[in-house]
Amino acid sequence: MEPLFQQIQAALSNIAECMDSKALESLRVAWLGKQGKMTILAQTISTFPLEERKTFGADINRAKEMLQNAIAERQVFLTQAATEKRLKEEFVDCTLPPVSELTGYLHPLTRTQNDLIAIFQDLGFQQATGPDIEDEFLNFTALNIPDHHPARQMHDTFFLDLPSTSSGRFLLRTHTSPVQIRTMRAKGAPLRMFSIGRTYRSDSDTTHTPMFHQMEALVVEDGIHFGHLKWCVTEVCARFFCVDNLHLRFRPSFFPFTEPSAEVDIPFRREEGRLIMGEGDEWLEILGCGMVHPKVLEHGGIDSKHHQGFALGFGVDRLASLKYGIPDARSSFEGDLRWTATYGSSPYEGALR
Ligand code: DAH
Repeated sequence: MEPLFQQIQAALSNIAECMDSKALESLRVAWLGKQGKMTILAQTISTFPLEERKTFGADINRAKEMLQNAIAERQVFLTQAATEKRLKEEFVDCTLPPVSELTGYLHPLTRTQNDLIAIFQDLGFQQATGPDIEDEFLNFTALNIPDHHPARQMHDTFFLDLPSTSSGRFLLRTHTSPVQIRTMRAKGAPLRMFSIGRTYRSDSDTTHTPMFHQMEALVVEDGIHFGHLKWCVTEVCARFFCVDNLHLRFRPSFFPFTEPSAEVDIPFRREEGRLIMGEGDEWLEILGCGMVHPKVLEHGGIDSKHHQGFALGFGVDRLASLKYGIPDARSSFEGDLRWTATYGSSPYEGALR
């Protein structure tokens, strides 16, 4: 049997050096196939004397097994090598920018929201959320806007056709301010939160849409005063409009939920039909703010004798319109791709310059 095992050794090294599956299959057929060397050799068993047949049979089986194992092992190796080769060839670098024609645009409102969130988070504010459907208590009463207060009428509220509860009628929130109450109740003081989201009022013209977006920020801590509010508002606006040394105008105003209250105006000038924000001698109102009214703190479960806070709120769509020069607020929601190509920006541009 020696020559058999020498032949097998040669076959095994052929198998081990085999570089592709087809060649491996040919080797398998040549040795183990129906007309293969081993099959034909096995058929010669009857020519052996009886006492040798047992060893001959065992040798044949051992040789077959060695060949089968070697082929199976090589097959695994070749499959793995083929997969690795394909992975290398088909590698896609996901960090490369896509081909520009295939890229969509970020809606200016999305860009504005992303920028504002980044600014507030950077200043240490935590994002909070609230539902679009609120009740009269959270939307008005808890914010010190009592029944029959003119501010309630001014909000042009959409009431829902649902049974009232002890908290009044259900409505689509007219501002993000109820999230102040929800967050004070959930987290207590000290608190530094902001909220951004959809708000609703029955109003539609070039500067109003029935659904719009507001942002709200609230700080409750010991020793908070109007100076902190002024710094925070100025810093947020300077970063948002990318202006150094911004000087805002704080005009005394009235909001039921803050006392004292102010409206904030930003300077601007016109240049070739565009508004340049942050400098010039004209003013635009952009934001409402003030020191949180003690009654509002109490509704939020916070002891107003020991804590003070400031709050601010503004229309996100309005800020987007001013920054990106959008003339008609309603066009934001028409879903016209030409509009998005004009006012939108590449998602791969840095968010804040
Ligand atoms: N909620 C006000 C509105 O809808 C905006 C606002 C003004 C929010 C002053 C505030 C604030 O938190 O302090 O018009």
